[in-house]
Amino acid sequence: MSMSISRILQYLLLLLGSFVAHALPLAPASAQNSIDIEFKDNGQTVGALPLDDLRAIAAVVSIKVFEVHEKTERIYRALPVRPVFDKVFGKDWEKAQEIIFTSIDGYQPSIPVVKLLAHDAYFAFPHEDGTPFTLTNRLQNNEIVQLGPLYLVWDNIKSKELLDAGASDMPYQIKRVELKFVAPFPNMVPPAGSSAKAQRGFMHFRQHCMACHTINGEGGGKAPELNYPVSVTEYIKPEYLKRWIVSPQSIRYNTTMPGITGAILDRETATEELIAYLKAMSNAKRIPANQ
Ligand code: HEC
Repeated sequence: MSMSISRILQYLLLLLGSFVAHALPLAPASAQNSIDIEFKDNGQTVGALPLDDLRAIAAVVSIKVFEVHEKTERIYRALPVRPVFDKVFGKDWEKAQEIIFTSIDGYQPSIPVVKLLAHDAYFAFPHEDGTPFTLTNRLQNNEIVQLGPLYLVWDNIKSKELLDAGASDMPYQIKRVELKFVAPFPNMVPPAGSSAKAQRGFMHFRQHCMACHTINGEGGGKAPELNYPVSVTEYIKPEYLKRWIVSPQSIRYNTTMPGITGAILDRETATEELIAYLKAMSNAKRIPANQ
């Protein structure tokens, strides 16, 4: 008797659970916040920590930042990145070249260690009171995005340099952090003898594109490969390629790709340099690894 009542209760809970999951598009929040954050050092996992353990590593602060995605100021509960890394990786993390952050949605920026040493970065996490940990991404078609489990923010209010970097190097939904002691992404580097223009284009690509896109399979998994087997410079008419990079929504109204931004950038020149880079890479195709 009691057995069957508990069965029925279980069934009702299941039903309720699936109803709630469908009714609320943001329902995976708790799942996202409860996953372990993985820390890797040159391919080896050195730690996998739930948020609660991470929060115990360093003193939690409230940090006010200019929220680039919403173009307004916001206050986050956060942990300073450097003491967290000291604890998880040991002090030698400072000798690494780059740190690759991987998000649940495939976004994957690689941030130079010198930038993390020169500026104050923080891992923001949900408020303990359960306020939704989301933002409206004005740069991506006003999508409402989950920020958890961790969101990387910078103390940018007084730094013109950080403000100019726009939304680059601000991954949300961080699930993995990996140290790289050798330069990552060898197959994305323009071939020897490429023009200075293509080299500058590569720098823009690293800063503004590779967190979402891959070249020869290297980079982020949030957006399409741009070079292999056929380069975008081979099948998109030049004038449309240029327009796409500057203002993708003028071509596809509901695209989530942001146009190239950043106050320091002369967009016209930057776009030409980016295209020079993409053309150089079309002569350096490599079969993506593990595909
Ligand atoms: C936030 C993620 C994101 C960033 C950053 C981004 N893109 Fe995209 N891009 C996309 C998505 C998603 C698509 C797929 C088209 C769509 O969804 O409308 C796309 C499509 C493209 C295409 C068309 C590919 C095709 O075969 O049709 C090109 C070319 C392109 N992006 C170049 C760039 C360049 C160059 C940069 C850097 C200046 C860049 N993207 C930055 C997300 C991004």
